[in-house]
Amino acid sequence: MCGIFCYLNYLTPKTKKYILETLLNGLKRLEYRGYDSAGLAVDLCSGDVKQTVIVRERGKVAALEDLVRLNKELNMNEMCTNHCGIAHTRWATHGEPAPRNSHPHRSDANNTFVVIHNGIVTNYMDIKKFLMSKGYSDFESETDTEVVAKLALYIYNEQPSITFQKLVETLIEMVDGAFAFLFKSSKFPDEVIATRRGSPLLVAIKSRMEMMTEYFPILYSSDINAQSRKVAQSGDMPSGVALNGHVPPPSAVPSTTASVEAGEFKLGGMEPVEYFFASDASAVIEHTNKVIYLEDGDIAHVDNAGGLRIVRTKKKHANEKEFRYITELQLSLEQIMKGEYGTYMEKEIFEQPESVVNTMRGRINFETGQVKLGGLVEYLDDIKRSRRLIMIACGTSYHSALATRQILEELSQLPVMVELASDFLDRNTPIFRDDVCFFISQSGETADSLMALRYCKKRGALCVGVTNTVGSSISRETSCGIHINAGPEIGVASTKAYTSQIISLIMFALLISADRISMHERRKEIIRELKTLPGKIQKVLDLRESLQELAMKYYKEKSILVMGRGYNYATCLEGALKIKEITYMHSEGIMSGELKHGPLALVEPTMPIIMVAVKDSVYVKCQNALEQVTSRGGWPIVICDEDDTVLESIVEKNRKSKQEGAPITVKVPKTVDCLAGILTVIPFQLLSLYIAVANERNVDCPRNLAKSVTVE
Ligand code: G6P
Repeated sequence: MCGIFCYLNYLTPKTKKYILETLLNGLKRLEYRGYDSAGLAVDLCSGDVKQTVIVRERGKVAALEDLVRLNKELNMNEMCTNHCGIAHTRWATHGEPAPRNSHPHRSDANNTFVVIHNGIVTNYMDIKKFLMSKGYSDFESETDTEVVAKLALYIYNEQPSITFQKLVETLIEMVDGAFAFLFKSSKFPDEVIATRRGSPLLVAIKSRMEMMTEYFPILYSSDINAQSRKVAQSGDMPSGVALNGHVPPPSAVPSTTASVEAGEFKLGGMEPVEYFFASDASAVIEHTNKVIYLEDGDIAHVDNAGGLRIVRTKKKHANEKEFRYITELQLSLEQIMKGEYGTYMEKEIFEQPESVVNTMRGRINFETGQVKLGGLVEYLDDIKRSRRLIMIACGTSYHSALATRQILEELSQLPVMVELASDFLDRNTPIFRDDVCFFISQSGETADSLMALRYCKKRGALCVGVTNTVGSSISRETSCGIHINAGPEIGVASTKAYTSQIISLIMFALLISADRISMHERRKEIIRELKTLPGKIQKVLDLRESLQELAMKYYKEKSILVMGRGYNYATCLEGALKIKEITYMHSEGIMSGELKHGPLALVEPTMPIIMVAVKDSVYVKCQNALEQVTSRGGWPIVICDEDDTVLESIVEKNRKSKQEGAPITVKVPKTVDCLAGILTVIPFQLLSLYIAVANERNVDCPRNLAKSVTVE
């Protein structure tokens, strides 16, 4: 949700053209996070005082790019030796997509403080009221973010000698909710401050200086909470504002403590250096692979001497880590480029024969049947001793949990619950110390899943992450986990992450049952099939032409029903989600055991229906469901095993003359029951892609959605 990007060059002269291109390219890499509007702020470098220019536009980054090109104030050839530019791509929460609601937001007409934000400030109405009472009333937008820019100015005006860092420390104490903020100010030229609470943010460093350390020390500032409380008690509190008890009047905030000054860790100093701040690593990889993932409460400050420091106001607990790792990214630029494909989603669908191999690489020994998951080694005994396994997730990740629940129950012999993170939290679900909770998330940043993780952690459960994003909040905050290794997924609709999540969870089921003699044959069968899976996925992908034909049959329809049961119920939900997400067509995944309890009423000859039925333990029941549908005039397409002739003949006998020649089945290779969902979901991925293309939809960035949902 919302993409944040900043480029700061220090003693590295760059043209304004280069700076703007860097900002716009950074935004394009983050566009999957939100794309209803975009904006940036840069400085005019000639003249004594650096004047900040803001450009904002509704729509995608390309629209902003056009507007930047037309901007008369910006001189593309101007050289900037030191400069800080910030940029943002938005997913609207407060206020419609429009230039006035786009970021950066500003404190005043002079752009004294400008801010970009990912997240939601929940007490923005209180802050707004407070600011209005102080005469700050020229609000231009309906957003929660604008109040933050104005609050920065208010704090500054109250204490003009305040440092930039202290100003932000003070400000975030007054703000409730989730955020990643970047602040820039004409009062502090060529500096930037980044801070986060609940939304992802990283800083990347490009420097000629060799980094002699993998660690970046944290500095602790004074305890401003305690100070402000003292002031509040003294009656100095602004009246009529109750910002959850934290209103440190800026004038009373002490200046930076000596310990911070003394312990300042400088990277850069008088050396040329470039910094990039971004919501995720894909935006910086073309510049550098040295990255520090910021944690909640971190305030990263690049000062006007090119030095970077990371400050926290106080220690939360005694054994808090006093450094951040400087991570070396393994990502390559090619991995995040579209290559020969028209869209990222298409590329990601066709990458699946390879991505599933990457998920299994080094983890399954196909000769000996041994499964190793390095991230779980230390916790395996605890997991085996647990009372129950709970899988918690949202969207497609939730479907991967549904798709694997049955095999996990069978192999682990433990009760397995599957929960939608939002509902799990709504119910205040009871959680115990001997529960093991799995948090499945492609991005590792989904707000509901993250909140559920914190909820379970607080109650003493062992928390396991299953994510695709190294360094993400979920991977950092869980005790152990499985990295699904699917490679970066850019298309908003998740495809290859889904199949890799299923494989990761099945590997976990194999691991936990390794000692059970009774499961020996079953495990062997699954491992054998995992080995042949990439080839079988390729065979399904080879059906693309017939799926394109099917898409041409369906693309004008209003609705598609998807029916199945057993392992394939998850395929029905995920298939329907794919159709909804990118085609905007209504689609519903129906458990075929429930047909007679309602959905049969929808069945008629013109209603598009897809049924999934492979030869597993529910095959006969699926056959019955097909009979029930066809005998009521329904005429479904059936996704089935390649050697199946029975289902075909059921549909055939009900064929009406006008349906002649149209395809009846989509046949996929036969595999073991628990892996069938990987093969049966691919026709839906392709079908939705081709329907979306036929309707000229934006496949990678469907309307109203975002890849990483960091708001609750
Ligand atoms: C968003 C994405 C979905 C994704 C869901 C959960 O809605 O558009 O594709 O399945 O979030 O995301 P996660 O990163 O937690 O898997």
